[in-house]
Amino acid sequence: MGKETLTITDNRTGKTYEVPVEHGAIRAIDLRQIRVSDDDFGLLSYDPAFMNTASCKSTITFIDGDKGILRYRGYPIEQLAERSTFLETAYLILHGELPTRPQLEDWIYHITHHTMIHENIKKFMDGFHYDAHPMGILAGTVGALSTFYPDAKNILDPANRQRQIYRLIAKMPTLAAFAYRHSLGMQYAYPDNDLSYGGNFLNMLFKATELKYKPDPVLEKALDVLFILHVDHEQNCSANAMRSVGSSHVDPYSAVAAATAALYGPLHGGANEAVLRMLREIGSKDKVGEFLKKVKAREALLMGFGHRVYKSYDPRAKVIRQTAEQVFTVTGRNPLLDIALELERIALEDDFFVNRRLYPNVDFYSGIIYQAMQFPVDIYPVLFAIGRTPGWLAQWQEMLTDSEQKICRPRQLYIGSAERDYVPIEKRK
Ligand code: ACO
Repeated sequence: MGKETLTITDNRTGKTYEVPVEHGAIRAIDLRQIRVSDDDFGLLSYDPAFMNTASCKSTITFIDGDKGILRYRGYPIEQLAERSTFLETAYLILHGELPTRPQLEDWIYHITHHTMIHENIKKFMDGFHYDAHPMGILAGTVGALSTFYPDAKNILDPANRQRQIYRLIAKMPTLAAFAYRHSLGMQYAYPDNDLSYGGNFLNMLFKATELKYKPDPVLEKALDVLFILHVDHEQNCSANAMRSVGSSHVDPYSAVAAATAALYGPLHGGANEAVLRMLREIGSKDKVGEFLKKVKAREALLMGFGHRVYKSYDPRAKVIRQTAEQVFTVTGRNPLLDIALELERIALEDDFFVNRRLYPNVDFYSGIIYQAMQFPVDIYPVLFAIGRTPGWLAQWQEMLTDSEQKICRPRQLYIGSAERDYVPIEKRK
């Protein structure tokens, strides 16, 4: 192999520059030496939506979109979904290694014992309108936690960070469940520390008059798997929001509120809801062909298909498909699954989808499971947020401990007016 450098010739000046290539990338700052004159600011790279710009070096998550590979800290997602638990995976994503038994016990202990929220939070939750979207309530209340934990601003102290990490992973399900119960006008159900992480979440959502809620073990396990699949996905929109907002050294509750807001958007955390609506609209298996004709005529999108990174089958969708079958042994088969399977079967044989490398993504089957588990549609992005919280925190911590990172502040290409004089209102046309 030749030298790990790139030679650039500036045709404006005829000058040649040699810049190092590291990990398959050049440093954008190396372009600044390329100038046409002494007072030239230097060459910038222009990359709206970060289509080809790495904003960090990371050791957390690896994705190969062409091969359909997703690994957390080197471990394939399929193995973690089958053999790990959400809390163990959360430990892995935050610490870089799988925990020993004592480390895992200590981790679970701390998270289980931070699930309660201050009673005052209930009061301002009560202030939300009855039909407030649970994701809006979650973003608002998690941000408000920063006022309850003023110590959280000591973000450069590792022990302090660890305390906030326990709190955030522990309290997100409590806030989410309270937001849901608020929308139903139901009394809040408090955390039950005898239950698993997912079991307790189901308890806080669905407990009615029984003295002790007993989660169904199959559904509890399925929820745990779904959380694992959502833990991290490298520099996605909400992880980028977490890093960018966190780079101002604000406390992690405020940064998680920003990440939650990013996830709320329909282009990010809201697609599973859209899949469900699409399947309902199609209505039956025999209408699938007709619907796909509309998609090919550009009159509709096949929701839950396609991905910016995956250009083959999303590995998370494969796991979810298997999980769906297990869930249906308890809940009964969701009839929408047959429509989804037929859509997938036909689409994967059709040149339109094959040529564009459009495959099912994580959202294609997740909504069907959530619906079968009696989760209301509004809460789907909230489930995503709970699963993604350890990933956001891992990205935040990696950013804070990376000596190359600073406050995040992109450049722009100014294309507006040159300097001009103020025009009094009576003289404006
Ligand atoms: N249905 C029909 N056609 C599609 C779809 C789809 N779901 N997705 C992409 N295409 C077509 C595009 O029209 C385009 O066709 P063209 O080249 O003839 O113009 C081609 O496939 C390439 O698509 P792009 O839009 O360039 O792909 P991009 O990477 O920008 O978009 C995205 C990815 C947003 C996910 C897109 O595939 C989409 O809208 N999918 C449906 C929504 C969805 O499922 N989102 C969830 C993503 S997963 C997540 O966020 C957790």
